[in-house]
Amino acid sequence: MSVEDLKREAAARAVALVEPGMRLGLGTGSTARHFVDLLGERVRDGLKVVCVPTSEATRAQAASLGVPLTTLDETPELDLTVDGADEVDGDLRLIKGGGAAHLREKIVANASRRMIVIADDSKLVATLGRFPLPLEVVEFGLGATRVAIKKVFAATDCAGELALRRRPDGAAVRTDSGHLVLDAALGRIPDPDALAARLDGVPGLVEHGLFIGLADAAILATAQGVKVIGDLG
Ligand code: A5P
Repeated sequence: MSVEDLKREAAARAVALVEPGMRLGLGTGSTARHFVDLLGERVRDGLKVVCVPTSEATRAQAASLGVPLTTLDETPELDLTVDGADEVDGDLRLIKGGGAAHLREKIVANASRRMIVIADDSKLVATLGRFPLPLEVVEFGLGATRVAIKKVFAATDCAGELALRRRPDGAAVRTDSGHLVLDAALGRIPDPDALAARLDGVPGLVEHGLFIGLADAAILATAQGVKVIGDLG
């Protein structure tokens, strides 16, 4: 089975949890893309749902499939968000933002009664941090924001380089909200809860990619079948 097959398997398990009338959050990335495809098939067969996308890419995909869209202004409370992740640990703590969408992803997940992560099992780690931690920052004061972030790392036993994310043509990546992204190569994060709490207090840092206490379950597809962490509800 290819990695794409595994991602689709996890997405299929999640799409089976969608019930008529649900208000859904739609994640971003290659695994969430499978979920939106499969949801589109169910919508074509008559399923009634309304959905909030977490990125312009997901919005375009869902719209092209005829999936009904809404916003958090019209629909501020959602029933279920299904999204991918860059890393998941055994306590359902996540690193997200590899696709620079974690700000909107976190807003949408936080507005949802439940969040379910879909991934292939390569995303499951004992300790978060091998995947560089994405940090969405405003351009103003970037030098000072970097210093403040480094101080937070030192206070939480983390260390590593902060790199401005660039596109292949060398230009800085801009998020859907117009911000920049720093990637922190930490290797391991000994205390993700403490790091997240301190990063929440850094001015200029709009949102970090640590998702703590947001995911209710993870559906992880392996070559031997699907493994579930947490409660699918
Ligand atoms: C987007 O910013 C991310 O949070 C994605 O959800 C995450 O990178 C997972 O993407 P893949 O499913 O493509 O691995």
